[in-house]
Amino acid sequence: MPIKVTENVSWVGKVDWELRTFHGEEYSTHKGSTYNAYLVKDEKTVLIDTVWGPFAKEFVANLAKEIDLKQIDYIIMNHGEPDHSGALPELLRVIPGTPIYCTANAVKSLRGQYHEDWNFQVVKTGDKLNLGSREITFVEAPMLHWPDSMFCYLSGDNILFSNDAFGQHYATEFLFNDLVDQNELYVEAIKYYANILTPFSKLVDKKIKDVLALNLPVAMICPSHGVIWRENPLQIVTQYQQWAGNYQENQVTILYDTMWDGTRKSAEAIVEGIKAADPEVSLKLYNTARADKNDIITEVFRSKGILVGSPTVNRGILSSLAGILEEIKGLGFKNKKAAAFGTYGWSGESVKIISSNLAEAGFEVVNDGLKVLWNPDQDSRESCVGFGREFAKLFK
Ligand code: FEO
Repeated sequence: MPIKVTENVSWVGKVDWELRTFHGEEYSTHKGSTYNAYLVKDEKTVLIDTVWGPFAKEFVANLAKEIDLKQIDYIIMNHGEPDHSGALPELLRVIPGTPIYCTANAVKSLRGQYHEDWNFQVVKTGDKLNLGSREITFVEAPMLHWPDSMFCYLSGDNILFSNDAFGQHYATEFLFNDLVDQNELYVEAIKYYANILTPFSKLVDKKIKDVLALNLPVAMICPSHGVIWRENPLQIVTQYQQWAGNYQENQVTILYDTMWDGTRKSAEAIVEGIKAADPEVSLKLYNTARADKNDIITEVFRSKGILVGSPTVNRGILSSLAGILEEIKGLGFKNKKAAAFGTYGWSGESVKIISSNLAEAGFEVVNDGLKVLWNPDQDSRESCVGFGREFAKLFK
């Protein structure tokens, strides 16, 4: 049901408590998500974004309880992805012809997905929509995170509607940042940034500078997923600037897959070496076949270095590791050191393959890696400890 954001602005979205994967099966949503849509009432009434298609009927029915749908003068689509545009067909069956304000690229994405010739009104940065006592200012935000993405700013209430930027996949009965568990909130916010926005960090930094240069007062930031930033709203902007700046913490993450525990034992011996050389460093160890891929990527994002291990199998590497290396390559992490390790019995290509993948993904590969024959004996174990120790020393 609608929730008041301000006297004139209501949240009319959907909390999806059940959601466990997003973007198909690509993104784990341990805490569900929300699809935030907002209704702004002035002399003119505007709906900002809708919800995902499976909730379209529920969304339109709830919206009709809040307002006679024919009184909606304008729709703003900040982004065409189906989690925000999915209820448009249902809504526009009731109010056909309602102008949809969006970027030129959003026209492409909406036409491409719904094959409807709706009443699109293309806007660019700086264009305004007068609502009466307030106005909306549009700010294109290409690649945050699609080419069609846009923010819009509501004067009077001083709200930035940022769509996916500053969002979190976080279902909660509370709508505002000051009402939720801060740790939970930031776990979801950093996961969202790491897995979705990392490739666009340079653009994130530039867009934030552009928006701050407008010198607009910001009382709230209303994203399209998760909670509204009401208390100290610019905290998430400052945080994004840090995350966009080749972010790293004092952390090393070790990723491996293993068949008969040899690579696992090697990984654990490497951890001993790192810890001996740097007792302060935070260490995270993941079997990529067992841990959640998006949680692992979040830990890679937080790391100053990663170590990646697999046994050799069929002259290659294990499939869970191959999959996550492909995803890591696409995310384009910067300013991180890396090295490979792995066990072998016969041909032993895994370390070379991992090193090559890491270099291609933009990591600084610091050595030729460590090959361990069969299951590690005492000598091999000591080599692993030494390998970890040398890796840790690189950061001194
Ligand atoms: Fe929340 Fe890019 O859609």
